[in-house]
Amino acid sequence: MANPGRALDWDMEDDRLDARYDVPVQEPAFESVHGARELSPLEGPKREFTDRVSTPGEFDKMPDEYRELLTRVLRIQADCEIGGPHLYVSNWVLTAPTADDQWRMSRIAAEEIDHFRKMDRLLRLIGSGAEDRLWVDKEERYVDAFKSEMPSWADIAVFGGLIDRVGEYQLDEFTDCSFEPLNKVLPPILREEKGHVSFGLYKCRDLIDQGRKDEVQAAIDRWYPEALDMFGNARSKRDHKYIKWGLKRRTNEQARQQYMTEAEPIIRDLGLVVPDPRASREHL
Ligand SMILES: [Fe+2]
Ligand SMILES: [Fe+2]
Repeated sequence: MANPGRALDWDMEDDRLDARYDVPVQEPAFESVHGARELSPLEGPKREFTDRVSTPGEFDKMPDEYRELLTRVLRIQADCEIGGPHLYVSNWVLTAPTADDQWRMSRIAAEEIDHFRKMDRLLRLIGSGAEDRLWVDKEERYVDAFKSEMPSWADIAVFGGLIDRVGEYQLDEFTDCSFEPLNKVLPPILREEKGHVSFGLYKCRDLIDQGRKDEVQAAIDRWYPEALDMFGNARSKRDHKYIKWGLKRRTNEQARQQYMTEAEPIIRDLGLVVPDPRASREHL
């Protein structure tokens, strides 16, 4: 018969592990921009559509431009959510260095797949879907970062610290958006993304403490330009339309600049060098 006291200890150990990985190692410097209203003083395009679209019927009555933009952005988000697990599940779950890491990687993958499911369900509400993005060749992913390779465990650590942080920014664009069903699913997804970022930073520090700083720097050099590119083209005008319809809050360049202001001190605090942002293809 199982010893209930021992089982309880194991549960407590899991709780401690959760707490260690899930509490953000460093609070984002731009937490204040996570509230949509606080963004309004920024220069640039303004939100014009301030109503809420709550039902499929209301969505059907919206202009083509709104329906196309919402479908497009949800499909891109779904593709990014499932694109991560495709990069690391087959080579970095059962080969993660410890059982704790294997367990955490499995959970991160499960959460990303769940984020995909949630985006797919939203798309189904509006007569579309993302199941065709479940399995695609890596080269066909919408965002270049998800076409990359992950040659080392340091890539996993840096991917969490840098790329999941971009994911958090992209999801945060939807905060207080005009599509109400999206507002409802967002809070737990954002919480989980913060946990992925925390895990990544924790693992970066762990590797540096093991004397593997060069591996982490090499991974930063690979992923930082990819992270900056994920914000999209600085000269895009589509982001103005997203803002007009209440589907995004910042232009690509505003979001990229805020990300850089947040991420660069974190890289320096790790004792690492920030790669030249001009390596980014999309940057101004
Ligand atoms: Fe996600
Ligand atoms: Fe994530």
